[in-house]
Amino acid sequence: FQPKLLAGKKLLITAGPTFEAIDPVRGITNHSSGKMGFAIARAAQEAGAEVTLIAGPVHLPTPPHVRRIDVQSAQQMFDAVLPQAPLHDVFVATAAVADWRPAVMNEHKIKKDGKKLAPSFELTENPDILAAVASLPDKPWCVGFAAESQDLLTHAREKLLRKNVPLIVGNLGPATFGRDDNTLVLVDAAGHRELPAGDKLALARQLVAEIARRTAGV
Ligand code: C5P
Repeated sequence: FQPKLLAGKKLLITAGPTFEAIDPVRGITNHSSGKMGFAIARAAQEAGAEVTLIAGPVHLPTPPHVRRIDVQSAQQMFDAVLPQAPLHDVFVATAAVADWRPAVMNEHKIKKDGKKLAPSFELTENPDILAAVASLPDKPWCVGFAAESQDLLTHAREKLLRKNVPLIVGNLGPATFGRDDNTLVLVDAAGHRELPAGDKLALARQLVAEIARRTAGV
């Protein structure tokens, strides 16, 4: 049983991958399942929070009593998040946002040219949603995530400073995408602490308790 740790608080959460269209039938995406973000949305709602979940393309049911907004691309996620952010107390950025998108979206399907020449694409950088929210004058309390293939703590610490957020949650261990279990490490200005291992809902409940503790009185 969870006491209502987040009663009266509003949480905004991003989850899942983004999809960056190349043409009407193709695009760039990643293996994020959205499970961690959806678990946090569920745990926060159970803890009494009012939850808005902004989801990239995922195959997951909406947790009960959670307001969900579906988006595809990083730019659409940015456009959905920014006006919502000042209306919330806490922002949890779990989405695996594509860092780059094709500079142009072809209106029609790109065809083979018959000369065995593969097309090449110019990429352009997507906006950093978390950094943009964390620089708003009326910003919510921000939590970022870090999934890295190496040097997790170094990268998590670097994100803490670069994005100017009070907490980064690191995904420890390989291949967390799509799995139900995970190991998380909390990284803040003071140091780092591993959360006891568990499935994503158990971890989400621990993280929600941690957010409640850190934002009490904020
Ligand atoms: O920049 P990087 O991908 O290393 O940082 C990951 C964190 O930043 C995650 O919390 C992710 O949701 C967030 N992020 C974002 N917008 C981006 C890239 C990452 O909100 N364009």
